[in-house]
Amino acid sequence: MTVTIVGSQLGDEGKGGIVDVFGDPVDVVARYQGGDNAGHTVVHEGDEYKLSLVPSGAVRGKIGVLGNGCVVNPATLFEELDGLRERGLDPDVRVAERAHAILPYHRVLDGIEEDVKSDEDLAAGTTGRGIGPTYEDKAGRRGVRIGDLLDPEVLRDRLEYVVPQKRALLEDVYGIDVSDLDDPDAFDVDALFERYRTFGERLAEEDMTVNCGEFLAGRLDDGEEVMFEGAQGTSIDIDHGIYPYVTSSNPTAGGAAVGTGVSPGVVGQGEVIGIVKAYLSRVGTGPLPTELGSVDGQTPPDGGRPEEADLAEYIRDEGGEYGTVTGRPRRVGWLDVPMLRHAARANGFTGLAVNHLDVLAGLDEVKVGHAYELDGEELLTMPPTTEKWGDCEAVFRSFDGWPDVDWAAVADEGYDAIPENARAYLEYLEDELDAPVYAVGVGPGREETIVVESPF
Ligand code: GDP
Ligand code: IMO
Ligand code: MG
Repeated sequence: MTVTIVGSQLGDEGKGGIVDVFGDPVDVVARYQGGDNAGHTVVHEGDEYKLSLVPSGAVRGKIGVLGNGCVVNPATLFEELDGLRERGLDPDVRVAERAHAILPYHRVLDGIEEDVKSDEDLAAGTTGRGIGPTYEDKAGRRGVRIGDLLDPEVLRDRLEYVVPQKRALLEDVYGIDVSDLDDPDAFDVDALFERYRTFGERLAEEDMTVNCGEFLAGRLDDGEEVMFEGAQGTSIDIDHGIYPYVTSSNPTAGGAAVGTGVSPGVVGQGEVIGIVKAYLSRVGTGPLPTELGSVDGQTPPDGGRPEEADLAEYIRDEGGEYGTVTGRPRRVGWLDVPMLRHAARANGFTGLAVNHLDVLAGLDEVKVGHAYELDGEELLTMPPTTEKWGDCEAVFRSFDGWPDVDWAAVADEGYDAIPENARAYLEYLEDELDAPVYAVGVGPGREETIVVESPF
């Protein structure tokens, strides 16, 4: 059977940790979208692994697959694999020949386009990994696929067609001279050909490429267990998210079929688990109706709740909500339940994993945005435009807070040891989303997750 793990909010809900927690009986973990914009954390016996391309099952020695729906930067893939091998793991990762390759010009253009958009407050605050430009080329039928790297003649043809267009975009549209770039080779056909042909040779030598759908279908036919590891989250899905502040792929469960080549029936017959962070955190500009406090340069001028700055800081500190690279504070807010109802519908959650329950411990009162008020009407789910979402006023519901306890001991004892008020919070979510809680995260480690029920 299959189990699909999907972020139900804005990314970083703790998906990697849940893939690990449920990972014991799994044979293959497949990513179906995104690329090295993801950062999935697995903490095992005090060792922390931050994975961006390698599926999280690698920590347990499971086969990892990067599906056709992924965009793969071979340079970061090999760097990550080498790093994990140095740490004593032996990752076995296969890459779909139909997946698209991220090239250096994609990263350069990602940075320039963000700069241009920031003048209009439209920047999505991308990770700068070239994700959007690579998916644009895929849709524009001018992409380079992983399979192309294995065939030098095809690779050269593809590059000779596309690179002059990219160079013209850089020079004629953005007015930037290639020779002024840190890496002028990013727009040079010969240099790119040599680099990517070498990547192709390594992929072939290590027997890493697969026909993804066929590979997975064969495993499933043999009775193996397959987990689909979503990256990002439903509200940054290109179709179902808060456009244009989104990523360029479909993290929602439908993406698991399209992005791997198994049928929707295969995904639908399995379980789809929504990963929920017990509050909200977000990087980037744009609306956030349940935001607490505000972050300069990101919270819209009339947004946030500056009067709740202390509360925001408490949650930010307890949750470690600061950029891993920049150290900048992230925006935080109460749980947005209309966002979760939208996610439950779009994905068809059969179960939930609720993380970071420990972060809210010690507060007298915990609130959730239960509904929105828009133009005098109450809404229970998200409106289709981000502008309307920005006009929504959150209608809050209040819960009694729960104490800070020895969470490791609670995890040891199981669900019934969770403080009563926290259980009321979880049961409210089960009712609203019509799906049972399968796991509760009370800390970052594998041992700090309470498994109520395994989906396998
Ligand atoms: P992902 O992208 O969805 O896999 O999530 P990230 O790994 O980017 O971010 C989640 C962060 O929260 C990581 O640092 C995790 O170790 C941590 N984390 C996950 N679950 C919990 C939890 O239940 N409690 C706490 N305090 N931290 C958690
Ligand atoms: P994981 O898998 C949180 C956000 C970026 C930006 C927008 C577009 O760790 O949950 P992109 O580089 O994808 O074009 O950026 O999406 N974003 C994420 N936010 N977690 C992620 O991944 C993200 N991947 C992209 O911050 O706002
Ligand atoms: Mg992450």
